[in-house]
Amino acid sequence: MKALVIGGAGYIGSHMVKTLQRAGHEVAVFDNFSTGHREAIEDVKIYEGDLQAAAEIDPVLSGYRPDLVLHFAARSLVAESMVDPALYHANNTCGVMTLLDGMRRHKLDRLVFSSTAAVYGFPQQRRIDESHPTAPINTYGWSKLFCESMISDYCRAYGLRAAVLRYFNASGADPSGTIGEAHEPETHLIPNVLRAAVGRADKVTVFGKDHDTRDGYCVRDYIHVNDLADAHLLAYDALNRADQPDFQLYNLGNGQGFSVIEVLRAAEAVVGRTIPMELADRRAGDPPVLVAGAGKARSILGWTPKIPELHRIIATAWRWHQEQRY
Ligand code: UFG
Repeated sequence: MKALVIGGAGYIGSHMVKTLQRAGHEVAVFDNFSTGHREAIEDVKIYEGDLQAAAEIDPVLSGYRPDLVLHFAARSLVAESMVDPALYHANNTCGVMTLLDGMRRHKLDRLVFSSTAAVYGFPQQRRIDESHPTAPINTYGWSKLFCESMISDYCRAYGLRAAVLRYFNASGADPSGTIGEAHEPETHLIPNVLRAAVGRADKVTVFGKDHDTRDGYCVRDYIHVNDLADAHLLAYDALNRADQPDFQLYNLGNGQGFSVIEVLRAAEAVVGRTIPMELADRRAGDPPVLVAGAGKARSILGWTPKIPELHRIIATAWRWHQEQRY
């Protein structure tokens, strides 16, 4: 199978590239390197370009003619999306429309799209399954929901077959230690905890201990990045199954929530030292609990996360953070 990974130089995209290569597939990456890292991808054909420009993506679609397009090229910081919404609508929403039109023009009909739990907004139930109403509370979530809606329309009207995967909290790193999470600035919990552990930051700031949760700290469902990547391959199989619809939607999470302080304690156990922390006010836009009901991915895709335990997820991230290469 020939795969084109849009945004393949980013955190999740680069793990997807490795997973595809290990499975023996032919892979090319399209990336504008605005936030991704060239060092994160090797032995792969690279097309440098911007998805918002049809003139840049079209020749790649027509020349490479992938069997499967995977889209990871999104801005994904909630806070940034609230102060610079234009960036999110241009890059995420308009970028996907350009891609869909290019795929339509060149008769490419298989897409796996990275979406997010942020489309659900404020959770109305303890475990969020795919039937939970979508009501984003930030521009990032809206930009992804608009994409989902366009993809669904193109499936209905133009013969596209697509799987939309709504990730909960992507985390960890490839166990090889060669690639991992490297955002600038870093806003995610596990890398911030490990940066404090390795001395690259003085301490980790914990946002609020007065949330409506069992211990007052925010609860999230952390899912290993390679388990996410595996689900994409299974979703491609499902796109080729006649018994499955043209537009498919799956939540991806472990179905288990951990509070911020539980993550910190688990990290201390992994690294074998105390990690300095300070308490701050709540971060705007943080729902108290986000835990996936991911039974559909398990039953229909046959997906079983291979690294579901929090301490193992953190251990893979720790290996990366000790010798961070980029
Ligand atoms: N947190 C801290 N200190 C930090 C960083 C985070 O206390 O330095 C807390 C946050 O307040 C939150 C939890 O740790 O309660 C997790 O925060 P992250 O920033 O790691 O992740 P989010 O849950 O905010 O968001 C992530 C992705 C989004 C996606 C969402 C879906 O970044 O793109 O998961 O679940 F939409």
